Amino acid sequence: MQKIIAANWKMYKNSKEAASEASALASALANGTPDNRLVLVFAPFTAVAAVSAAFAGKACLGSGGQNFYPAAEGAFTGEIAPAMLKDAGATWLLAGHSERRHILGESNDFVAQKVAYGLDQGFSVMLCVGETLAEREAGKLGQVLAEQISSALKPLSAQCKAALAGRFAVAYEPVWAIGTGKVAGHPEVLEAHKTVRDLLVAELGDQGNALPILYGGSVKPDNASGLVNLENVDGLLVGGASLKSESFLKIVSA
Ligand code: PGA
Repeated sequence: MQKIIAANWKMYKNSKEAASEASALASALANGTPDNRLVLVFAPFTAVAAVSAAFAGKACLGSGGQNFYPAAEGAFTGEIAPAMLKDAGATWLLAGHSERRHILGESNDFVAQKVAYGLDQGFSVMLCVGETLAEREAGKLGQVLAEQISSALKPLSAQCKAALAGRFAVAYEPVWAIGTGKVAGHPEVLEAHKTVRDLLVAELGDQGNALPILYGGSVKPDNASGLVNLENVDGLLVGGASLKSESFLKIVSA
């Protein structure tokens, strides 16, 4: 399966900084990505167009939106429509990131609406899932992942479910490992990714084996290679260490 190495720039970088980092990535990867990996950048809204322009015409580089509202347009102050992100050149959307679930209060139901709408609008969607430390300590890892995944897939039509390959990915990001420097240990990553894989297969049949599962949470150049080569780890979603192209490029080739 093609591995995906994705940068989540969160609320960092103005459009000039974004253009400069994205151009640095595009020129470093001008002759293709290592092992034909797909490299994605989820930039802030005001920088999506700059990233898309730097990546234009390069099949292994993609631009995505970190957030969106599941409607064509309307009275949703402060929100952005997928059509607007498409206009800025984005082809991927992130849904269910833990910062949106836990800081902005997005529920499983709302995340599910976003996933269905984003797919319906022709985007590829990356669904983020993961447990808090309290949930892990209470032995609820499997339950939390099952709720997050089955709720997100529930509204999809049978036709949509049958055509998810190549346009749907799951990023497992334990909340306690995001931005904390506490990367999950390999046994924990293996267990969680196997759980996600089994859930995808239970929901989608054999197709669940073809969908990439990324790991995210304090991925750095020095731990990326160990993580990306684990069973059922089909890529990485990188926050802090993706902000500088030198650091992110080391992860892209890890
Ligand atoms: P981090 O963030 O790499 O800074 O831990 C990952 C993420 O939030 O996607």
